[in-house]
Amino acid sequence: MIYHDIKISNTFSLEAVAATYIEYGSVEELRRDLPGAQEPFLHVGGGSNLLFATPRFEGTVFHNCDRSVDVIADEGDSVLVRAGGGLKWDRFVQWCVEQGYYGTENLSLIPGEVGAAAVQNIGAYGAEVKDIIERVEAYDIIDGVEVSLGRDECNYAYRSSLFKSDAGRRYFVIAVVFCLSRQRRLNLSYGALKDIDGEKATLKDVRDAIIAIRRDKLPDPEEIGSAGSFFMNPVVPVSQYEALAEQYPDMPHYPAADGLVKLSAGWMIDRCGLKGIACGHAGVYQKQALVLVNLGGATSEEILALADEVINSVEKKFGVTLRPEVQIVKAKAPAQK
Ligand code: EPU
Repeated sequence: MIYHDIKISNTFSLEAVAATYIEYGSVEELRRDLPGAQEPFLHVGGGSNLLFATPRFEGTVFHNCDRSVDVIADEGDSVLVRAGGGLKWDRFVQWCVEQGYYGTENLSLIPGEVGAAAVQNIGAYGAEVKDIIERVEAYDIIDGVEVSLGRDECNYAYRSSLFKSDAGRRYFVIAVVFCLSRQRRLNLSYGALKDIDGEKATLKDVRDAIIAIRRDKLPDPEEIGSAGSFFMNPVVPVSQYEALAEQYPDMPHYPAADGLVKLSAGWMIDRCGLKGIACGHAGVYQKQALVLVNLGGATSEEILALADEVINSVEKKFGVTLRPEVQIVKAKAPAQK
């Protein structure tokens, strides 16, 4: 257990330290280190979806470093694979593609780790990770027991899950069991994949195409700090979409759960003329307006001020309120007695 300030990695490249940082590789280690750890707790993956509103987190940051990957059942067309929560997501995708297992390829190159992918229900190019999750193995920090939650118990929805809710914060994701397919089953429904030849393409072709699209549109976290999409795409009633479509007939829209309509936040931000604008050292990415970037030396205040400007502009022009996809961490020093 480490009891001094530790820089917490985050793909926004902001300076952030934690009073206490605990890396664990197994449930046994977590069970040993949890008692007495200072609250509040923050469980992090690769830091690819976090924005630290304060530079010092006055609590305990936990990080799972179980990077194991094991085939636990192999029957007919289906393969069950258990991956440790600390395994880098894209390394897992690469491994699946190399094994000839279908299911993860559309989610290539998404930053972060396996555990966070299951918390966030990562999605891209017509796929969501929930579609290949069989179950999530977690540690219940309140009852001190290991639990195995089937996909249906995880309350998955667009970029959301049980683990993001207040009720689910008691669970630290230890590992995820995926159900993958040996059977050729490509998902090329998303518009940007229309040029891929569905008859001939291999798993690796799809992965390479997705990597090329992402590299073209999204900043490389190694070069430009960002957290991917900063906002979620808003989901609105059909009547609200229809009213907007009268004014903006070319507005992109997609069917969403419960008969609602998903709008494109990036398109709306772009239409507000905000692409490329800056607030101090924080900017709206030139190639994808849904992404806020650290232009170099940005503070969290600058990023949050820019986010507010974006929210206000979209609200004013379209009457739609954008919500951050990024988790904003606000833990301050506990009040002195
Ligand atoms: N668009 C613009 N201008 C922009 C950005 C987008 O006009 O600056 C338009 C595009 O032309 C397109 C539509 O908006 O018609 C949607 O854009 P895109 O396909 O790039 O997808 P997105 O809705 O902006 C979502 C995910 C991404 C994911 C892509 C591809 C969310 C919040 N974001 O973005 O996920 O990679 O679809 O599937 O759902 C992430 O979550 O961090 C992320 C990058």
